Amino acid sequence: MEFSLIQRGEDVPKAFRLLTETWGHWPWREVESSLQQGSYLLILAGDAKNIAGALFVNLHHQGCDIIYIFTQPSKRRAKLATTLLAHLEVYLKHIKRPQKIFLEVHEANLSARKLYDSFGMHVINVRKKYYDDGADALIYMKEVFPS
Ligand SMILES: CC(C)(COP(=O)(O)OP(=O)(O)OC[C@H]1O[C@@H](n2cnc3c(N)ncnc32)[C@H](O)[C@@H]1OP(=O)(O)O)[C@@H](O)C(=O)NCCC(=O)NCCS
Repeated sequence: MEFSLIQRGEDVPKAFRLLTETWGHWPWREVESSLQQGSYLLILAGDAKNIAGALFVNLHHQGCDIIYIFTQPSKRRAKLATTLLAHLEVYLKHIKRPQKIFLEVHEANLSARKLYDSFGMHVINVRKKYYDDGADALIYMKEVFPS
């Protein structure tokens, strides 16, 4: 499986085309315009014909916020999301000061929560009744140190 890291530049329209061909339009238009603004990173798993997984993050001075992580249903439970997160970690380890990875998840999304637990993330905050269905949002964090 190939992994590619995409930031702003000529790779963005190519990645956008590929993502919409594979998964349909939502929510890639937003991802494309965010990438072109800078401070975002898209990590794709797959080849030029088929995207198997994607991780989209907003980079900031503390580290990054994970906006979106998704793997194709037919490719799940094969450590693909774990490998996408590992690529993000390697990217952040090249920065010469500690970085924090943050994300927010619906309390009922148990598969995602197990993924984040197994990746060494910890719940640092709970936003009570954050979602429309009255569920809490859990804020996870992991600290990454320069290698
Ligand atoms: C959550 C998601 C990204 C996991 O992707 P994945 O490629 O299957 O994850 P991995 O194979 O790397 O799983 C790593 C670990 O996470 C846990 N896990 C992942 N999916 C799980 C599931 N359905 N049930 C229980 N545990 C699960 C397991 O501990 C797993 O390790 P194991 O398979 O050795 O037991 C995927 O299910 C997905 O795209 N879901 C829809 C989008 C989503 O909810 N994204 C997160 C919120 S934005």
